[in-house]
Amino acid sequence: MCGIVGYLGQRDASKVLIEGLARLEYRGYDSAGVAVLNGEGLKLRRSVGRLKNLADSLKQAPLHGNMGIGHTRWATHGVPAEKNAHPHPSEDGKVAVIHNGIVENYREIKAELVAAGVKFASDTDTECIAHLVAHYYKGDLLQAAHKAVCRLHGAWALVIAHADHPDLLVVARRGSPLLIGLGEGENFVASDVTPLLPYTRRVIYIDEGQLGTISRKEAHVYDAQLREVPVKVETTTLTLDAAEKGGFEHFMLKEIHEQPVAVEATVRGRVKDGRVDLSELNLDASRVKAMRRIQLIACGTSLYSAMVGKYLLERFTSLPTEAWSASEYRYANPIIDAQTLVVAISQSGETADTLEALRLAKSKGALAVSICNVMGSSIPRMCEGTLYTRAGPEIGVASTKAYTAQLTAFELLALGLGRMLGCDIAADEARLVAGLNALPAQIKKLLEGDIVAVKRCAKRYQGVANFMYIGRHYNFPTALEGALKLKEISYIHAEGYAGGEMKHGPLALVEGTFPTIAIAPRGHTREKMLSNIQEIKARKGVVVVVATEGDAEAHELADYIIEIPACEEELSPILAVVPLQLLAYYTANQLGRDVDKPRNLAKSVTVE
Ligand code: M6R
Repeated sequence: MCGIVGYLGQRDASKVLIEGLARLEYRGYDSAGVAVLNGEGLKLRRSVGRLKNLADSLKQAPLHGNMGIGHTRWATHGVPAEKNAHPHPSEDGKVAVIHNGIVENYREIKAELVAAGVKFASDTDTECIAHLVAHYYKGDLLQAAHKAVCRLHGAWALVIAHADHPDLLVVARRGSPLLIGLGEGENFVASDVTPLLPYTRRVIYIDEGQLGTISRKEAHVYDAQLREVPVKVETTTLTLDAAEKGGFEHFMLKEIHEQPVAVEATVRGRVKDGRVDLSELNLDASRVKAMRRIQLIACGTSLYSAMVGKYLLERFTSLPTEAWSASEYRYANPIIDAQTLVVAISQSGETADTLEALRLAKSKGALAVSICNVMGSSIPRMCEGTLYTRAGPEIGVASTKAYTAQLTAFELLALGLGRMLGCDIAADEARLVAGLNALPAQIKKLLEGDIVAVKRCAKRYQGVANFMYIGRHYNFPTALEGALKLKEISYIHAEGYAGGEMKHGPLALVEGTFPTIAIAPRGHTREKMLSNIQEIKARKGVVVVVATEGDAEAHELADYIIEIPACEEELSPILAVVPLQLLAYYTANQLGRDVDKPRNLAKSVTVE
């Protein structure tokens, strides 16, 4: 959940680190710090709060040097405080460590070190690593780091610097992402590729359990037994532009507007001669045919896409499909065997609960695939195959384009698996492929046309304390996602409910000022939704209706109408969620919230 950058070269390390950390701030932003090596040894600077505080401090009193490590933190052990910010030094100040992850057995290690006379300066789990490295150090930093890492339980991406090694950084990875960037006479290390883009596109992904060393000229990678392994240099195609705001006020708004491209890119090349082609998943057809059930595991917004996925998969594969919250799956004793197909859905590919659920499923013999947005991330690495969502980097904490891209991927997965299983899907496939091809233009139209209506609505209801979102079948998850978006970035309480459940309790909430957002596009549940809306109106509730354009009945019932283009029913969640994303965005923005970095949250949840 933290961001890591390391640099070795001829440039001003502080500048490289601060610029790199700015691109990683979405990973955590409660404190930040750097350690820079110069003639006086390893010099630390740490600040609480946003990265700007650290940058200002470095402006006032620069730390010069051309080797250093930097970190932006999301607290797990110890409150946000300067003493708990990374890097953490050893007692003699010679070792400095930055860490993303959790050391589960830190109490035990700390007790041992304290008994040996070591004094701890922070409340973090990470600090024990710095002391362990110092304890094992006998002139060889890689050996000392390896010995220290062998003591740890939990998850880590680590970068370790030592004052006596001005041309060396040691890195280690287990459970948290880390990659090396190769420059000319300079090398980098980071949690993801964005800090590297101004300097290089040549990267080495560190694998699970591996360690590595970088100097200005070289990079080496080692397995968990410290045997050197060949490095695999890859060239990233990501552009810096893609990682920046592109003229929008917030990343979230930019990402909402990128949805036509994200959906189009997710479909591209995966339909051949009108048929969905999943050959990139490299699935063994006989293994797929042996499957008896499908389990979808995910968290948050990805879970809501999985709930839509469940409906699609059951419809087109006829296999019983469950959508599981990954954090529940792990502790609920789910029935998993070799005839279970597990699909992990994750934007980041690093969500700890999803990773652990996937590990559990694999350990019981399940066939594992994923739907993921980040190439080379941990979840795809654990799977037989991955359907990448190709939404590009999603920086805003609130997931938007990754969600609609996941829904798109589910349409493809359900049809593709249906075909592999010999189900009669030809007519549906023709209908949905045409619908998928039309979607990018429809989302574009929606974004151009309906912003005014949504803005008006956001202004009208920004003072309201509670919202209800309702939908049925394919759009029940849309209701959940709409409510999550609103509460996540505006801090207004919102509930998502299945429309049919209203009269079983929540209807009691309805009175004059209570707004309900009803998602009621054309489809087999529209009539029922209109009845739900009538029930709310009869109790003097306020209803904002998301309906298919030209739906006169919905128009008549609604206090506010938000229209979406006509589409195939199965595709309606992709269109219906767009105005809800915008409603959350404009409401939060009008309330002056920090839209891209809502309080208490982080983009990538790499701890349980
Ligand atoms: O990266 P993932 O898709 O695995 O992340 C899962 C959730 O943490 C994520 O969707 C979260 O709910 C979003 N902030 C919602 O907007």
